[in-house]
Amino acid sequence: MTRVIGLISGTSVDGIDAALVDVFGSQTDLKVELVAGRTFPYSASLRSQILSVCSGEALSVAELAQLDDAIARQFATAALTIQSEYDHAELIGSHGQTVYHRPTGEGERGRFSASSPIADAEMGYSLQLGRGALIAALTGITTVSNFRSADIAAGGQGAPLVSIIDACLLSVPNRSLCIQNLGGIGNLTYLPCTGKGETGDNSQVSNLGDGILGWDTGPANSLLDLAVEHFSDGTKTCDENGTWAAQGNPCQALVEKWLKQEFFCQQPPKSTGRELFGVDYFHTCLVEAQAYNLSPADVLATLTELTVASIVHSYRTFLPQMPDRVLLCGGGSHNLYLKRRLQAQLHPVEVLTTSEAGLSVDFKEAIAFAVLAYWRVRGIPGNLPQVTGAVAPVLLGEINSCWHSWA
Ligand SMILES: Nc1ncnc2c1ncn2[C@@H]1O[C@H](COP(=O)(O)OP(=O)(O)OP(=O)(O)O)[C@@H](O)[C@H]1O
Ligand SMILES: [Mg+2]
Repeated sequence: MTRVIGLISGTSVDGIDAALVDVFGSQTDLKVELVAGRTFPYSASLRSQILSVCSGEALSVAELAQLDDAIARQFATAALTIQSEYDHAELIGSHGQTVYHRPTGEGERGRFSASSPIADAEMGYSLQLGRGALIAALTGITTVSNFRSADIAAGGQGAPLVSIIDACLLSVPNRSLCIQNLGGIGNLTYLPCTGKGETGDNSQVSNLGDGILGWDTGPANSLLDLAVEHFSDGTKTCDENGTWAAQGNPCQALVEKWLKQEFFCQQPPKSTGRELFGVDYFHTCLVEAQAYNLSPADVLATLTELTVASIVHSYRTFLPQMPDRVLLCGGGSHNLYLKRRLQAQLHPVEVLTTSEAGLSVDFKEAIAFAVLAYWRVRGIPGNLPQVTGAVAPVLLGEINSCWHSWA
């Protein structure tokens, strides 16, 4: 058993999810036990600084360095706090805070070949702040960070990276599943029915991901959060439980129009971020909503419906078949209106949560980065080429060893 801390702050920029995890086994026999999980919200000022950078505000290199270290310090504090009442961790896997994500080029230009991996493709770029070396120095714990860059260098999107972990921890023999994460951005992992063994058997991953698919589906909460902030004059950050949207009616004409957007039609592998589904996109939605005289509740219901429709459209268009069951995770799984609409649109597919399958909806992503760090130090690749589009499985993350212990 190895005790590992997983740390991530996602595209919602709501705060750092920290998971203290005991990890057992390797891949086919991987097991995790969540010892403690906690979200450490960012201060309002750090959050707004990060959101400004995400929306393209110019920054000097000196300011970038300062922000990088401010984030690393918050991540280190989260790690030290989560383990304060427990035996300490041996390893940290820190995803950091994404501030920029440029997906790999689309179409033929983006298809890497092993013989000329870079020449004929437009390479992706993904920047996470909160440097691992500082986290390692401040915590006294070896820290794996910068998980996306090796996959991107191998021609991949660098995302989603959790698919193989989903396969190891959630596959079942008698049902095909979609694990649908609802963070700022939505992403899915499709797990075909393994057709053998007991529930919890993950022997299918011995073939490193046969039949497993995954990609980003589009916005999940990013536009909703922006709308809530706008309509509440900055007094609220999210539509708590979806109660505001539930008071409105979705405008189907707008949803259908928005669904024609290129990203939704694009063939996987694909990934996205706040660069596309951020402030500018929201303002366009708002302008278009005015033509329909929508109330704030109607706009929220319509944006929620866009999340729902983009997920359903993605499944129907790009999966070999609809799954038997969908397991939701991420903060959006607490949005009861969103969940209800997904259940209605996906019927007769069952819609539950990963918590109901034994894996916390709130800490699954942080747990995944703890496992990816554990794999990295054991020399086990973490990406699934058919999911990210990389030419090969590669080791994910850079190891920042700790040369002392101040902690
Ligand atoms: N009770 C709730 N009701 C409605 N929405 C919620 C609730 N709790 C959280 N959320 C939504 O979930 C978001 C945070 O989810 P989460 O932390 O999974 O996303 P993230 O940080 O973008 O992560 P990632 O990009 O890694 O998936 C919040 O911004 C909010 O929109
Ligand atoms: Mg979050």
